[in-house]
Amino acid sequence: NYVSDYYLVSPAHANQIYHPIQPHAHKGTQGHALIIGGSYGKIGAVCLAAKAALKSGCGLVTAYIPKCGYNVMQTAFPEAMVLTDGDEYITKIGFDLQPKAIGIGPGIGQHLETQQAIKEFLSKVNVPLVIDADALNILSSNKEWLELLPENTILTPHPKELERLMGGWDTDFDKIEKMKVFTKQHNIILVAKDAHTMVVYKGSIFINTTGNAALATGGTGDTLTGIITGLLAQGYEAAHAAIFGVYLHGLTADVAISETSMQAFTAMDVVTYLGKAYLKIE
Ligand code: APR
Ligand code: MG
Repeated sequence: NYVSDYYLVSPAHANQIYHPIQPHAHKGTQGHALIIGGSYGKIGAVCLAAKAALKSGCGLVTAYIPKCGYNVMQTAFPEAMVLTDGDEYITKIGFDLQPKAIGIGPGIGQHLETQQAIKEFLSKVNVPLVIDADALNILSSNKEWLELLPENTILTPHPKELERLMGGWDTDFDKIEKMKVFTKQHNIILVAKDAHTMVVYKGSIFINTTGNAALATGGTGDTLTGIITGLLAQGYEAAHAAIFGVYLHGLTADVAISETSMQAFTAMDVVTYLGKAYLKIE
């Protein structure tokens, strides 16, 4: 069965999506990203995502986290604004901001109150959205909430999270067919993370060509959520933010391993090397 809707994301493709920052830009025009997540013991995940969002080039980042993470976030990441709710996990999601994009899930946990807060949030949200980690697992336990997702919401599951969302698969071909059905059914974009991450959008598959096993370390997925949210906040359309975000994320590890070892690379190095990765984009 010959299929023609596969694309390898080449450097040329990435360069085409990229747009530079305009000389008269200011923090207002660069976009405001909101990152929602964290729970006791998992504040690092939301720190990583928030930092990655800002380093991807957006103008402002607000982190929405439980109170136990307040001092951590303000200390580890002084550039961020911080809103809090709940003591050790998020119990409701409400804010007075108008962010250009929202990323939700890193470290958020699966407490029942958090689940309810996510349901209410999803019933109201109307900005470009990235959903990751336990926010995905919460969707998997409440599949009817998938109907609440705004069109072109980006879901970033790793293989286990993907299986929980749409059920298992036999072969790679079967996996791809199931992802196509799932994305069309819910009008969403899937970023199926793996050594060769695939973005599934309207029946097409975009296979990433950057990245290496240095990324096989805790928290790198959280930085991807931040990067894609930061790109959305800058006005990249959803499919472009997903494809280019995955490319840029992988590129950080490719650039880094000529300077450090695969072993010593950690998730915060994704953030550190975002600058050098951008320098490879023309
Ligand atoms: N080659 C290339 N890329 C890789 C490789 C590899 N060998 N291994 C991992 N990656 C990339 C993936 O493509 C993905 O972008 O690293 C990232 C890993 O993301 P996650 O699996 O989400 O890992 P992590 O960030 O640690 O997740 C943090 O959130 O999803 C939950 O259960 C997860 O508790 C964990 C938390
Ligand atoms: Mg993850």
